[in-house]
Amino acid sequence: MAMEYAKAASARRLLRWQSALTRPRSWVCSSCRNNLAVASQCFSSGSSPAARKPYYITTPIFYVNAAPHLGHMYSMVLADVFKRWQTLLGNRAILCTGTDEHGMKVQQAAANHGMEPKQFCDENAERFEELAQLSRIDYDRFIRTTDPDHVQAVEYFWSLLRDKGLIYETKHQGWYSVSDECFYPESQLVKHVEPFTGAVYMASAETKNKVEWVEEKNYCFRMTALKDRLLDFYEKNPGWVEPAYRMNEVVDWVKNHLSDLSISRPFQRLSWGIPVPDDPNQTIYVWVDALINYITAAGFPAWTPGERQKGGWPADVQVIGKDILRFHCVYWPALLMALDMPLPKKMLIHSHWTLNKKKMSKSLGNVVNPLYAINRWGADTVRFYLLFEGGIADDADYNNDTLVTKYKKYLQWGFGNLLGRLTRPKLWNVQQIVASSFSFSEDTAPRTQMSDVLKQTMAGFEEALGSLAPTVAWLMDQHNPVASIREIMQIGGQLNEFLTQTQPWSLVKSETPADKVAAEKVLFLVAEGLRISGILLQPFLPDKSARMLDILGVSEDKRTFDHAVLRCDPSYGAPIVDPGRTRTDALFPPLIEDMDVEFSGSVKNRKKATTKQEILQTEN
Ligand code: ME8
Ligand code: MG
Repeated sequence: MAMEYAKAASARRLLRWQSALTRPRSWVCSSCRNNLAVASQCFSSGSSPAARKPYYITTPIFYVNAAPHLGHMYSMVLADVFKRWQTLLGNRAILCTGTDEHGMKVQQAAANHGMEPKQFCDENAERFEELAQLSRIDYDRFIRTTDPDHVQAVEYFWSLLRDKGLIYETKHQGWYSVSDECFYPESQLVKHVEPFTGAVYMASAETKNKVEWVEEKNYCFRMTALKDRLLDFYEKNPGWVEPAYRMNEVVDWVKNHLSDLSISRPFQRLSWGIPVPDDPNQTIYVWVDALINYITAAGFPAWTPGERQKGGWPADVQVIGKDILRFHCVYWPALLMALDMPLPKKMLIHSHWTLNKKKMSKSLGNVVNPLYAINRWGADTVRFYLLFEGGIADDADYNNDTLVTKYKKYLQWGFGNLLGRLTRPKLWNVQQIVASSFSFSEDTAPRTQMSDVLKQTMAGFEEALGSLAPTVAWLMDQHNPVASIREIMQIGGQLNEFLTQTQPWSLVKSETPADKVAAEKVLFLVAEGLRISGILLQPFLPDKSARMLDILGVSEDKRTFDHAVLRCDPSYGAPIVDPGRTRTDALFPPLIEDMDVEFSGSVKNRKKATTKQEILQTEN
């Protein structure tokens, strides 16, 4: 049994790490390939740290027409993980999130609530900011499109476009969707039958949202003048949109549907917005207003010559949902190109969270309230679930049972259990184990009786732990936080199995000094697994990882990416925070509603809980 386990585990790890080592590691310069401790310093673009542009990442700014839902939290969490990852690497990073407050949709929602738009926005923007805080988003600016500096930035942007002759006045007619805040060409409409009322109306084929015929004076942006530049840009930068296959949709739109863009609405229809400079009878189109937030937050237009990049622009990554691809990958670059401004470096397009396989959306009302979820499970647990189960490329279906199962498998019985098994027993002292492993000499130590199998298993783990940080770094560089967290999570379960196999609690009681040495080696490896994983988990689970490192006694200044290397910290082990004694004061305690049914069936009238064994045996 032990033999089989060891062989399978080490073969699996070795295979994985071999393939990891042959992956392209664009982020590690060649002279550093063998020196993980300094690898992170090689992300530099060549300039000195002080002169370097900060890493800049954004989320969409969310409409305040209704309360935030889990989809909004997901975009925020993704952006947050990337920001925190950069911080872990030692880079300065800026994250901007916020709310989109102008436009027809919000104007109508405020009217429906019998409220003044500004007061309505104030109240709802607060709920989004509260969500950001409770989700532990490390944002630097929570921008609101009603903020005075943003209004000025939009006015200035407009006047630059106008001065370049890119805005003209026209009588515009077309099909407008208030819900999507955009015009649709006739080719993209369908006749929609409302299932509940039987009402028939014209709707967008894509979103099924109602459109209405509009004929009015508008200002238009000469977007068609940029068609060739856009297509040329896409061709030269196929990786600009990630996942890359979404680029097809973008190119197709520009090739086949690009027209000039209506960028204002008459004031009598849309009063809640930024007036067109020099023409207060017109209000600026909400999408133009909204997109500019990304540069407002980076200091536009007060960019000092020579220091234009100080505020972060161009953004390194702009995280958006697939529903707003066209606005961000066609309109946004067109607007920036029109003013010869740099384009964002990467658009990261994530898929949707669904509930019962239907897109979670404010309009449909089938939403999971993230504030309830956080209140019930805790921020890090929800973050864990979103990151572990969520997709970039594929939609994911929200399910509380899955959340509980994954929590148990990877956190409660995974890292939580492992941490308890290492730090709670009085049989050993982690600090001494760490210290002695640094002074350990194979020449003078009693020869251990470790079998070849055990030695091989340990060598496999050493290799796995040594490769964990570069593998996760590579995955994060590929904008794949889902694979990154999964990579880390594997370690917890495997080290638990390893402890069960090696039984260090028996070895330390042995009379043979060699057994004690073997126990120390095993325990040191587990401690290193927890320390390295704890460091790497910081961007994903900021609170739990901090507590994990506190319990392990890792000092604050030894929690950077550079420290996620085997044997680079001789000084940890004395807990800064008590590891606790009971199940409930553990790092990952049983989830409240779950405590009475765990392993059971014993509580009548409740669904039979899946057994621990069943859960631990599931793939992922
Ligand atoms: O479109 N799953 O705002 P919005 C995952 N104000 N993410 C989801 C989601 C779901 N089911 N539903 C929404 C707007 N999102 C504009 C944006 S930006 C200059 C202006 C996330 O409130 C996802 O990021 O409708 C999506 O793109 C965004 O919320 C849309 O939020
Ligand atoms: Mg929307």
